[in-house]
Amino acid sequence: MSGALGHPRLHHRSIGSTNARAQELAVTGAPHGTVVTAREQTAGRGRQGRAWTTPPGTALAVSVVLRDPPPLLTLAAALAVADVAVALDRERREPAIKWPNDVLLDGRKVAGILAEGRLQEGWAVLGIGLNVAVDPAALPPEVRERATTLSRDPAELERALELLLEALGRWLDVGDEDLLAAYRARDALLGRPIDWSGGHGTAAGIADDGRLRIRTGTGDEVLLDAGEVHLGAL
Ligand code: BTN
Repeated sequence: MSGALGHPRLHHRSIGSTNARAQELAVTGAPHGTVVTAREQTAGRGRQGRAWTTPPGTALAVSVVLRDPPPLLTLAAALAVADVAVALDRERREPAIKWPNDVLLDGRKVAGILAEGRLQEGWAVLGIGLNVAVDPAALPPEVRERATTLSRDPAELERALELLLEALGRWLDVGDEDLLAAYRARDALLGRPIDWSGGHGTAAGIADDGRLRIRTGTGDEVLLDAGEVHLGAL
């Protein structure tokens, strides 16, 4: 699925949700790699129906239209965000990934990833919100304690976008085996206790299809999809 991402790029000063706009564009035939960005989102969407706040001018809000997306898309996106963090984090913290796609620095979330779309029609929109120069005080109180930012310099927003699209293009072209190896090396959940609707156990790594492997108290292995588990802070 090669091809540079970001052509065309549509930038909005203020928009409801870049993911919503990118989906409108995707259904009307926007090409692979179309990117929608916004300085501010007034109705940003997070996973599991949650809201996502984009403090104006300090966080990236970016959505990419992808034709024929790979099954491990959100894992590739998390690795791309981790690469940006390695390049730009002022404190040089080593990124970890809390399955499926929260990128953490010192246990705090620096980015959120939301893939939406119609896989049967062969497209997805990949939305990424990345805290580049966010003042924690600009975030809602309930997320402030669990969030972090790469730097305090808004001038790094454009550089972060450039690095992100470049890294995403690279990870989308990497084979599953290498992608999974890189992802497993950043697995923040490995060995941690996990509760899900069906019981509890210990995170035992990432399966080849991207699901979370859980070892239960009786030694059984359970595979969980992203929608099945609600994980608290680490
Ligand atoms: C999460 O809940 O962690 C996922 C958050 C995803 C937020 C991004 S910001 C750009 C894009 N537009 C949206 O409305 N959501 C995603």
